[in-house]
Amino acid sequence: MQITPLTGGLGAEIHGADVRRDEDFADIEAAFAEHAVIVLRGQTITPDDHLAFARRFGPINVNRFFKPVDGYPEIATVLKEKDQKQAVGEGWHTDHSYDQVPAMGSILHAIEMPPFGGDTLFVSMAAAYEALSPVMRRFLEGLTAMHSSRHAFGAATQDSEAARSGRLSNAEAATQDARHPVVITHPLSGRRGLFVNPVFTTHIEGLTPGESDAILAMLYEHCRQPEFQCRVRWQQGDITMWDNRATWHKAINDYHGFRRLMHRITVEGVPLH
Ligand code: SIN
Repeated sequence: MQITPLTGGLGAEIHGADVRRDEDFADIEAAFAEHAVIVLRGQTITPDDHLAFARRFGPINVNRFFKPVDGYPEIATVLKEKDQKQAVGEGWHTDHSYDQVPAMGSILHAIEMPPFGGDTLFVSMAAAYEALSPVMRRFLEGLTAMHSSRHAFGAATQDSEAARSGRLSNAEAATQDARHPVVITHPLSGRRGLFVNPVFTTHIEGLTPGESDAILAMLYEHCRQPEFQCRVRWQQGDITMWDNRATWHKAINDYHGFRRLMHRITVEGVPLH
């Protein structure tokens, strides 16, 4: 197995591993803990293999809104058809941050890729936090932020192309609101990192709306710097697994006229502090 870092900020590419092989698991798990995003190239697996690999990391967190794969309620379909304009996950986000106990991570398998584009970008929230000034880090210490699924998946989104096409549904289940620290200690690495994101965070508590908007906008602009990012260029069969407590991600929607189909499994996490 060859493990090669993708950038100085985060991510690693893994060749020669097979997610079905027991003897490969310890190295894959260690690479995931170290790099937060791992790209396992060339996995020829079934949905059952995908599930078995995910269950090694913990119980499955079933997504409420994404269309499931037929016969596999635990596997979400991430799909854009060739005649559709909107991709799922285009905004920078952290999956399930609106849950009281946010997901540990997601495992995305590339089933059908466009001939070009359709990459996924990731940000290291620890690298972004560490690059803030000591004064800003002290200011953020002890603050909490609210996250919600309501505006992202609720009634207001019923008219979106993703809802009309059935890729997203169950708007009535979008009732989750959760409070998390703005800066968390990563449950595995102990590294401090930001835990706010543009899609699901609604506001920082205790600030006026104007103050909260301004601080979040400043943090988001800071986090988007290329120095904290890695970019995954997919090939069919690849699996990318990311740690939601350590990253943001964003799907690049630059392949209009082509189909892109991914299967995603999300694994349960632990309360954040
Ligand atoms: C997601 O946001 O979970 C999907 C990312 C992607 O499709 O690249």
